[in-house]
Amino acid sequence: MLNRRWLGVLAALTMVLFLATMAMAGGHGEKHAKKVGILLVAFGSSEASAQVSFENIDRKVKQAYPDIPVRWAYTSSIIRDKLAKQGKVLDSPEVALAKMRDEAFTHVAVASLHTIGGAEYHDLRRSVGAFKVMGGFERLILAYPLMATQEDMERVVDAILATIPKERKKDEAVVLMGHGTHHPSNAFYAALMFQLQLKDPNIFVGTVEGYPGLDLIQSMMLEKKIKKAYLVPFMSVAGDHAKNDMAGDEDDSWKSILTKAGFDCVPVLKGTAEFDEFVDIWVDHVGGPLSHF
Ligand code: CO
Repeated sequence: MLNRRWLGVLAALTMVLFLATMAMAGGHGEKHAKKVGILLVAFGSSEASAQVSFENIDRKVKQAYPDIPVRWAYTSSIIRDKLAKQGKVLDSPEVALAKMRDEAFTHVAVASLHTIGGAEYHDLRRSVGAFKVMGGFERLILAYPLMATQEDMERVVDAILATIPKERKKDEAVVLMGHGTHHPSNAFYAALMFQLQLKDPNIFVGTVEGYPGLDLIQSMMLEKKIKKAYLVPFMSVAGDHAKNDMAGDEDDSWKSILTKAGFDCVPVLKGTAEFDEFVDIWVDHVGGPLSHF
């Protein structure tokens, strides 16, 4: 009798055999000519306002690495489904990589256009890892998201200082809205606020889904006697979160909550990827893997 445990083992063995067969089918021992490619991977957005960010990244990457084909993938299946209904087909990273393997790419730099190395970045890491196990590419390297190293953090601080409203009085603040995550990498947001405040004590970093939350930012601003706050997305695109959770007219938007608390709010609807200061960091990260090819 096969019990559940043995069925599990059998299933795992079948999977290994399947993957091995796939790897052999992809390989056949043929040696392909070197073909380098870049795969840009974003969470994705179906908002028209977000496209300017993606177009900017696409243009800057192609400018920096002119002879290398660039492909795109979105990690969010909800966004991909939404776009498919509008006739726009975007691949998942897995499908995009499978296609690139079929097209005989030998070296691929996968770029994570995420802001931090959170849950989506680590999902992408697992997918890239699975393709490495399967074989088919000679080199497959995943680049870091926007903020990974301390050097990245310092560049991001400079990029923020260069792109936020500069003519501000002593009682005026900038509140950045990060996404936030349950992933341990959520700590990057508080770390970023600490490093920003070393340069300008009136810059705050809150998140929609993690720590620091808006209530903490609000009490910090009260303590510093802030009167007016520019609300700025700290996300690559000014999409759904920026338009609704940050600047929306609903009672629970940051604009509504802070206005009710007595702050004069000025939303700025621009994603980080609309600014070259941020995009340059992603572009340089793509250069990391490429320098190994
Ligand atoms: Co979200």
